[in-house]
Amino acid sequence: MQINANSLSLQAVNFYNMNVFTTKQALQKALTPLREANSTVGFVPTMGALHEGHLSLIHKALDENDVVVVSVFVNPTQFNNTSDLAKYPRTLAQDLKKINTLATTKILVYTPEADDIYGASVSKSVFDFGGLAHQMEGKYRSGHFDGVGTVVQRLFEIVQPHFAYFGEKDFQQLAIIKKLVQLMKSPIKVVGCPVARAQNGLALSSRNARLTTEEQDAAAKIYRVLQSVKEKFGTENAIQIKEWVIHQFKNDPILMLEYFEISDALTLKSMRTKEPKTKYRAFIAAYVRDVRLIDNIALN
Ligand code: PAF
Repeated sequence: MQINANSLSLQAVNFYNMNVFTTKQALQKALTPLREANSTVGFVPTMGALHEGHLSLIHKALDENDVVVVSVFVNPTQFNNTSDLAKYPRTLAQDLKKINTLATTKILVYTPEADDIYGASVSKSVFDFGGLAHQMEGKYRSGHFDGVGTVVQRLFEIVQPHFAYFGEKDFQQLAIIKKLVQLMKSPIKVVGCPVARAQNGLALSSRNARLTTEEQDAAAKIYRVLQSVKEKFGTENAIQIKEWVIHQFKNDPILMLEYFEISDALTLKSMRTKEPKTKYRAFIAAYVRDVRLIDNIALN
């Protein structure tokens, strides 16, 4: 069957053996009998341009639930830069094919338009994430986490999953979504999953599709630097490590460092002095041209 998935106008379509829903009503109608039969519902929210990282989240969700909802929606309210939103890859037909390779009827795909999520007004709420949104991504992408919080809250209300799966590549986002669930007083369990990497170590990201092979190889340096930071963490202090990292990117012809942080893995506050019982992570954001890449690593 040939479907131009970018122009799906029906509310529910059977694509190969997958159920694809374009409205929340159709999705909820399909979920109701499953819930009544006590099926556990796993949820993998995505913005599409699916890669192995997303597929690993879907695999985990399939292992741990009776049914899995995968949403594909490029959320306008989390982009603080209109050209980033315009250039974000939109590959719904390929995404559906990739999900189809998982060869299961346990997946329900939700591919809404903005009005199904937002109604007439595409706007974001303002959240108090208790300080988690003030640094790193929150500092450099103003309003980003309010946009993420708004869409994830709506998606959670629509799907009402038991478990929701997010990658640790967006570690700050993961922390914020755990906080969101607390603010919503929701029973949803948020599951963090390890960063999926290309062979050269580059963290998988939908944005990598915008890089040439040469740029992807150059960008693999981000992870190599993070691995060295992990080694240095045993013997050097945060200031020394930061200086070393800045130096690594100083004359790089392809990569431009935006920030490097060593932060408390729970509060995300910058590390000043190392506390013995605290878990720390190192975070990097860097640009290749206008393509922004982020990555992080557990240090202890
Ligand atoms: O991580 C993402 O892809 C997005 O931020 C999410 C969680 C799907 C919300 O739009």
